[in-house]
Amino acid sequence: MAQDALTDAAQGKVVVLTGAGVSAESGLATFRDAHGIWARYRIEDVATPEAFARDPVRVLEFYNLRRAQAAAEEVVPNDAHRALARLEREWMGEFLLVTQNVDDLHEQAGSGEALVHMHGELHRSRCQQCGTVVGGLGALSVEMACEACGAVGGMRPNVVWFGEMPVAMDRIHDALEACALFVSIGTSGNVYPAAGFVRAARAAGAYTLELNLEPSQGASSFHQTRQGPASTLVPSFVDALLAGELSL
Ligand code: APR
Repeated sequence: MAQDALTDAAQGKVVVLTGAGVSAESGLATFRDAHGIWARYRIEDVATPEAFARDPVRVLEFYNLRRAQAAAEEVVPNDAHRALARLEREWMGEFLLVTQNVDDLHEQAGSGEALVHMHGELHRSRCQQCGTVVGGLGALSVEMACEACGAVGGMRPNVVWFGEMPVAMDRIHDALEACALFVSIGTSGNVYPAAGFVRAARAAGAYTLELNLEPSQGASSFHQTRQGPASTLVPSFVDALLAGELSL
């Protein structure tokens, strides 16, 4: 089974899922670690449509701070981001990189059209009124007007809040159903639908591998788990896969 999966993977689709742990060594906080974002903020205060309706100033302050943190010059891609961009360039089969992260470190490292931001993108903004998405705005405020429809007070970060539908789920499920190798990197496996991708991949016959600092909530669903920092585990995984020497 394992070697077949590797052989299949050499022609089959490889699907990689990343979470906040892949950006941790670039200096961005994760969510559920001891000093993570949700240890300092309540989700229902800053990351739901109801929070935005109730107190848009507070929600925009939260995302403006995260935008500024992500844009800091010392926040740059690490070796894990670079290894995944290399995998996209050099892999002979099909490849899809699904990230839960809203930062753009995968793009900065060179990941391209094979990248899907299922929870949206922090540096883009969306008008709550007409749905127009724009890039390049600085700090958002409730006084801001939408460039397209003129509505004031509806500009929000183009991220997926709790209770909202993640992005590109059809594309992701199609990829999972056809994948020969599924690799989860830097995610705690707390949030669905991403936490269920490993079971969809296994049901499709894929070999499943977790690379994480510690076993995630879903570790028992994987064929193999490796613990360690992403900047070490991911480059060695990519080297082994590209060399056809991945030990399954
Ligand atoms: N290398 C590898 N893994 C790491 C590292 C590292 N350097 N540092 C932390 N981790 C691991 C942690 O052990 C943890 O399992 O990354 C995981 C991060 O988990 P979370 O903080 O829960 O982040 P994530 O899984 O991406 O959260 C999913 O929840 O709040 C929502 O929308 C938000 O996209 C986010 C989603």
